[in-house]
Amino acid sequence: MVTDVDADFTKRLPKIELHAHLTGSITPQCLHEIWTQRKLSEPDLALEDPLRVLSKDQRWNIVTFFPVFSQYIYELCSTPASILYSTNAVLQDFKDDGVVYLELRTTPRSSASISKDSYVASILDCIRDFPERAAMPTYLILSIDRRNTAAQAMETVDLAIKYRSRGVVGVELCGDPSKGDVSTFREAFGKAESHDLKIALHFAEISSQGLELELNTLLSYHPDRLGHVIHVPEFIKQEIIGRGIGVELCVSCNVQAQMIEGGVEDHHFGSWKDSSCPIALCTDDVGIFGSTLSNEYLLVAKSFDLKAMDLIRLYERSIEMIFSGEKEKGRLREILVGQEKNLTPASS
Ligand code: IMP
Ligand code: ZN
Repeated sequence: MVTDVDADFTKRLPKIELHAHLTGSITPQCLHEIWTQRKLSEPDLALEDPLRVLSKDQRWNIVTFFPVFSQYIYELCSTPASILYSTNAVLQDFKDDGVVYLELRTTPRSSASISKDSYVASILDCIRDFPERAAMPTYLILSIDRRNTAAQAMETVDLAIKYRSRGVVGVELCGDPSKGDVSTFREAFGKAESHDLKIALHFAEISSQGLELELNTLLSYHPDRLGHVIHVPEFIKQEIIGRGIGVELCVSCNVQAQMIEGGVEDHHFGSWKDSSCPIALCTDDVGIFGSTLSNEYLLVAKSFDLKAMDLIRLYERSIEMIFSGEKEKGRLREILVGQEKNLTPASS
């Protein structure tokens, strides 16, 4: 069987993005523009050109990947102006790729010129003021980093509660999977749950000693969605399926950062696609891995022989995973109505 879809089709396909880190979604070109501006006013700026740091030839792995944020992009985008500029660009890029619903996630951070609270408020302002908001409703998930203390995690949950009425729909756990002890966050996720915030967790990204204990601890936080799900023992996979937890799959990220062995055709999308779980293809960090959501759909279509109708079904399957509620779900289902002509593959 040969797929009947091409890049044009996957661009036209309406898409739902549920696992995208704001800072990881900034393109090298946008970072370059910020860098150029800063260089004008700060000629001694000691940061290298992002086009070199994030060049296409760069090979990532789980060790080289995380310092790009903590030691480079955060330094570059530390001012309110650069945060607003890059957030706007990220929203525009997702919109231009045909995303019709977006849940962005970000770790509240502070610098000399911005507090965590004003960081979150500024991003929500940006989302509110985005001119194409009606065509791409966007919600925010606040991230707890695995290196956080219990108090810092609680601060993030409190910010999520505070800004809920402005579009924060949940909290999540991210960061270098080799760092931290996830049991630190029990109270924070407990509070999030008791305030009806949704919970997403990065899950089983690396195989490590004590992994089963960690995964069981994470499952005890009653997550609504899990990201990556790579090194998952069969009994835990069955638990996830039994609970019907939504699974966020980030194919290019896992391949390019060498989190799985082999290429796209070896990705565990192949086994999850036939499970009864809601699943969603997601980009994770399109700014770093350079693969848009349209391209992720195209890659799986080619590698797993999926037809246009299979991709439409994938879209429908991810609707069930969104955090913002039934009204948006209804809108996302409606989008397909009357699209038969627009979604006919070019080759048919
Ligand atoms: P931010 O939260 O908007 O600043 O986005 C960057 C952050 O997302 C990084 O510092 C990481 O903590 C997190 N992140 C990005 N990609 C991954 C991943 O693949 N696994 C875990 N955490 C990630
Ligand atoms: Zn992620």
